[in-house]
Amino acid sequence: MGFADQILTPLASLPTLSPEPANMTAQAHAPVKIGSVALESPFALAPMAGMTDTAFRRLVKRRGGCGLVVTEMVSSEGLVRRIDRTLEYAEYTDEERPVSIQIFGGDPAKMAEAAQIVEGMGADVVDVNMGCPVPKIAKHQAGCSLMRMPEQAASVVRAMTRAVSIPVTVKMRSGWDETHVNALDVAGLMQDAGAAAVAVHGRTAAQSYSGRSDWDLIDEVARSLSIPVLGSGDCVAPEDLVGRLRETAIAGVLVGRGALRNPWIFEQARALGQGSAARPVTEQERGQFLLAYIDMLLSEGTDEAEGFRHTATVDRKAGPARRGVRSRERWVLNKLRALGSWYTKGFDNGSRLRVAMNHTKSLDELRNIIRDFFFVTAESIEMTPTSALDHSAGSRDAGAADQLSPDFGLLTSSSTRPCPDSSRARLSSRRRGTSPSGSRNMPGA
Ligand SMILES: Cc1cc2nc3c(=O)[nH]c(=O)nc-3n(C[C@H](O)[C@H](O)[C@H](O)COP(=O)(O)O)c2cc1C
Repeated sequence: MGFADQILTPLASLPTLSPEPANMTAQAHAPVKIGSVALESPFALAPMAGMTDTAFRRLVKRRGGCGLVVTEMVSSEGLVRRIDRTLEYAEYTDEERPVSIQIFGGDPAKMAEAAQIVEGMGADVVDVNMGCPVPKIAKHQAGCSLMRMPEQAASVVRAMTRAVSIPVTVKMRSGWDETHVNALDVAGLMQDAGAAAVAVHGRTAAQSYSGRSDWDLIDEVARSLSIPVLGSGDCVAPEDLVGRLRETAIAGVLVGRGALRNPWIFEQARALGQGSAARPVTEQERGQFLLAYIDMLLSEGTDEAEGFRHTATVDRKAGPARRGVRSRERWVLNKLRALGSWYTKGFDNGSRLRVAMNHTKSLDELRNIIRDFFFVTAESIEMTPTSALDHSAGSRDAGAADQLSPDFGLLTSSSTRPCPDSSRARLSSRRRGTSPSGSRNMPGA
């Protein structure tokens, strides 16, 4: 069982908040302002290492309804030392604005210097990771370790706010473990140290992803601070986002895994919040999203207008634009496998799609698998039965239903009809796949 499966299993079985669209109309929610940065929506894409790269963030923004995107966490040490790979994680494009770059580290001076680099890159916000439970990070007094040293955490934020003029924000967990649930105290200290906003994932580091995010605690933190508080955890359906916003004192919601499964979740939540119905997403749109992601990753840094991409000012030889063709293809395959491990959850036959994605060795084949799964319509099967079937190694077993499981809150419109049994048989005869590998996939806060 891979990391994704481990942390998704409990999530998949979570009940979502009961949708009451009629009551979800916008009771004029105050616009969110993080320092001087105004968000046009209270729903934000959470930082996710290995997942929320610039291409993914752009694709999410294009779907609409997302007020802020946060990069994957970036090492302050790597930024200060101008390490290529680290700088690459911090790159973003104008289209993503407002964009927050999340950094981690425990040394106030280095974090201040890293914040200056982030500001120099033109980012709108710099965020401090105080939630990562991974020992590799935590042992360096970074990530969630900082919650065990509140004074040190405050020194970090104070040093950063003195060093930059962009807003400094903090993302934390509820605490280190069940005997040290101190988000309320730490959040107050962060506000006093100059933080412009705080985000709270309502689990302890010890919990990792087990149990439920404690929204009562998140609400308590939000009520106790004068700066905006964003809540995080287990919002997997658009109704969850709107419900949390309505029922608690938070200013906004950070969405992680729900967005990896359903990048339309922000747009759907916005519609619900405005009293409209959430637009169902077609199968083709879901397929098109993956194909666009492949194309964008392939052309990362190669065909963008000058000035479009924001990088740190340093001469670099590595990075996506500098990868050889074969290593770039491998990188793209691994990125798609990593996203696929989330994106395919909740589909009928999604596990088979996942296996097919994990087995494929070429991008051409991957594209065919995606097309066959999402685009082979009943019409095309009826019109060209032989070719459609010949193409169907990756076809979707839609026999059970075309809809994504309602547990996931993924609204889809049924634009395909069941594939013939023979295509289903072919897909099921595929060998079991391997878990996604090769791409950076580190659980964070
Ligand atoms: C694959 C993955 C990577 C993550 N990486 C980060 C990270 O780099 N920084 C961070 O603050 N949180 C990170 N998180 C935590 C999320 O931002 C979020 O707080 C958490 O997943 C709970 O929200 P969710 O239930 O909406 O996913 C990560 C989560 C996942 C699933």
